Amino acid sequence: MNVVILAAGLGKRMFSSLPKVLQTLGGQTMIEHVVETAQQLPNVGKIIVVVGHKAELVQEKLKEVPVRFVIQKEQLGTGHALLQAISDIDEKESTLVLYGDVPLIRKETLQALIDQTKNGFGLLTVKLSNPTGYGRILRQSGKVSRIVEEKDATEEQKRIDEVNTGIMLIPPKDISRWLRQLKNENQAQEYYLTDLVEFAATEGKAIVTHTAEDPMEVEGANSLVQLEALERAYQRRNANELMKKGVRLADASRIDIRGSVACGKDVFIDVGCIFEGNVVLEDRVHIGPYCVIKDSRIGEGTKVEAFSHFDDATIGKAARIGPFARLRPKAVLADQVHIGNFVEIKKSDIGLESKVNHLTYIGDSSVGQKVNIGAGTITCNYDGANKFRTVIEDDCFIGSDTQLVAPVKVGKGSTIGAGTTVTKDVSEGALVISRVPQKEIKGWTRPRKKE
Ligand code: UD1
Ligand code: CA
Repeated sequence: MNVVILAAGLGKRMFSSLPKVLQTLGGQTMIEHVVETAQQLPNVGKIIVVVGHKAELVQEKLKEVPVRFVIQKEQLGTGHALLQAISDIDEKESTLVLYGDVPLIRKETLQALIDQTKNGFGLLTVKLSNPTGYGRILRQSGKVSRIVEEKDATEEQKRIDEVNTGIMLIPPKDISRWLRQLKNENQAQEYYLTDLVEFAATEGKAIVTHTAEDPMEVEGANSLVQLEALERAYQRRNANELMKKGVRLADASRIDIRGSVACGKDVFIDVGCIFEGNVVLEDRVHIGPYCVIKDSRIGEGTKVEAFSHFDDATIGKAARIGPFARLRPKAVLADQVHIGNFVEIKKSDIGLESKVNHLTYIGDSSVGQKVNIGAGTITCNYDGANKFRTVIEDDCFIGSDTQLVAPVKVGKGSTIGAGTTVTKDVSEGALVISRVPQKEIKGWTRPRKKE
């Protein structure tokens, strides 16, 4: 089967400098969604994308995807768009036409259209309570005879609620002959792809229709208002999928997935969370409200409290993170680690049962097991030009308000007194304090403002 995706339109009503099909939905461009769905169909040969407006940007976006591009220099209509692809179409096979701005189409629906069409001409239709703007399906004694566009329709035809979604399956052999037969003698002066239906019907081909159950699936995004509606529908679909797999969502309308979330059993996700890239939540993970989690893996039974932000983090089992924790790239936390509020961790390993509970920055570090890091600790990993590592071995106690000036190593079981600036390596089991001994001056008068 050939697949042609029409994506040459500008999308004026988006008021954007991007071509319409590069607007995103669930963090991925609309054209990528459509290509991905097409790739999942069996027996797909070539996927051809017809580009026009800002073609370079669309091509750049899809440069790693195995598709073939065809340029439509002037947008003279959907039939003209398909004609541009004709030399890349294998006429011995049928041709599925998809739209770059109809991103929610599901492979199951396309498969149903393909299965029903057999040797006929397949049309994906939908019934709409308000069919305004769409091409109407005209029937004669039940059989489809042609499609009439809104602009060309009579008042009576405009009352037809069965409309063309644009998605069609054109049978082999006749496609190029039909496309060359198209004329632009209509209100829009465009070459309508929909006129192929009349050609096929006149030649006695069976026109098979399959009706999409969910109108959202075949809806195009022409404006930001429509795009937002599709985004909500898409997110609702994601939420339903998660719930079907056993994830408990506090509110299915308050979760956004911009990528994928794989979940184990008895996972709970509170309101307002955003998931990006590839996220894995193992069994019994609990995610508190308003967390942003990107490309991270969270181990069994771990609890993440409100307003935590993770990017490329790996967290072990039964850990407690947040509220207000920030895990940056390559933060790797072992099992039963506790990370508290206003703690930032970057490119660091934190060992089993270690605790970093308050107001701390740990960067480029390796922290052993059962370490306690006091409030306000900072690893000074950067000299303005280079980054250096801090090593804190097992069972250390780092007092509050400690600065560890890297490169530096704190030996196993040692203790750092509060307020210390550690600039030299600390041996095992030692106590280090660098603060000035406390002095007391009795009856001290503070400086007064001069007259
Ligand atoms: C089209 C159908 C209409 C259907 C509706 C569904 C035709 C003549 N009409 O109308 O029956 O109900 O879709 O949404 O086909 N495109 C190109 N090159 C062009 C023109 C369009 O690539 O020269 C692309 C657009 O980027 C868009 C798609 O084709 O993705 C549809 O074009 P559009 O102009 O929106 O068609 P409609 O008038 O909505
Ligand atoms: Ca349209």
